Amino acid sequence: MGDQAVPAGHERGDQQGVLMIRLQSPLPDSYSRAPESELAERVTTAKRALGKRLVILGHHYQREEVIRFADARGDSFGLSRFAATQREAEFVVFCGVHFMAESADILTPPDQKVILPDLNAGCSMADMADLDAVEQIWDELAEVTDIDGVVPVTYMNSAAAHKAFVGRKGGAVCTSSNARPILRWALGLDGPTGAERPLLASGGGGDKVLFFPDQHLGRNTGFQLGFGAGDMQVVNPRFPLGGLEDRAVKEATLLLWKGHCSVHQRFSTAHVEAFRASHPAGIVIVHPECAHEVVELADEVGSTDFIIGAVAAAPAGSTIAIGTEIHLVERLAREHAADRTIVSLDPLVCPCSTMFRIDLAHLAWILDGLLEGVVRNQISVDEKTAADARLALERMLAVA
Ligand code: 13P
Ligand code: SF4
Repeated sequence: MGDQAVPAGHERGDQQGVLMIRLQSPLPDSYSRAPESELAERVTTAKRALGKRLVILGHHYQREEVIRFADARGDSFGLSRFAATQREAEFVVFCGVHFMAESADILTPPDQKVILPDLNAGCSMADMADLDAVEQIWDELAEVTDIDGVVPVTYMNSAAAHKAFVGRKGGAVCTSSNARPILRWALGLDGPTGAERPLLASGGGGDKVLFFPDQHLGRNTGFQLGFGAGDMQVVNPRFPLGGLEDRAVKEATLLLWKGHCSVHQRFSTAHVEAFRASHPAGIVIVHPECAHEVVELADEVGSTDFIIGAVAAAPAGSTIAIGTEIHLVERLAREHAADRTIVSLDPLVCPCSTMFRIDLAHLAWILDGLLEGVVRNQISVDEKTAADARLALERMLAVA
């Protein structure tokens, strides 16, 4: 499915594509040049000394050297739910990316400190929806459609400010593991619709969804819910009204922000075809951030947790190609080496460069700081933003 043609001469300029710049100063040589064994020793010692005051969370895309120290591993949904239950720990060290640490901060009490070991660990997809651009598109939509019927849904991969916008407008956050029930809720597919729909103050039950920042998760979920290509339109923030005609906005059910994950967008139908040609009985499992053409050819699609479960459930002896970040694929290949052959769907390595920023040296630097009473790299969302964003996150947790 294409990005729609846009009227010539209507481009807005470059302000929509501004990347978030965060600063992480280089580590002292005593960390950046230390051998892995020494760093591992420091982390082990600090973990032991900090005991229950510390919890380390690790996303499935983390390096092996880091994730082996995680007290909990998970996808972004599982980790946000887990973070919300951690009442005892004083420090939550999030080995993942910035939006995940922000969500953990929003869901934990104010006296808990959430820490991201490298401040430059962002997410290029999250940065594709600039908040000013989202607000501008929202105002433009309000000029051509009943905006009270539009429910905004933001993917977990977005900044706290975006979640706060969604919270204020009666929408919810979703993750790759609950996008289906959240869209059903947003469109009132299981409950009263039209005149009977709940007031947007309590959320959900709209006629349309503005979904950002990942067009692919939105589109793949839309198809899973039975919508057709004609029910979905891509909103390109570089153009007024997303480059859409008024009529296209009025007729669409899903308005999909033109954002993507550069790691998952690499997987192509050619990769699936090449794998199937050499392994006719092989199984293809992909993440829903992949393009719809790829998802259509795959055998299974789901979040990182889902992928782990699908590999475990595959028959012994299977050959499985996985379309997601390489660290998870390589871990699964090692863990199932005895009775399954697991390969990356794209034979060329495709790491997430921002997840990769969290290494053992940064983890050791953070934990040594905590031992010395120094809290480095705390992620702290201001209370007003957090309160609004919490509405959107709590609606998500209540729905699915
Ligand atoms: P999961 O929620 O499936 O772990 O995905 C997070 C992510 O960033 C995928 O690129
Ligand atoms: Fe963001 Fe893609 Fe990395 Fe996930 S894999 S954190 S969506 S850039």
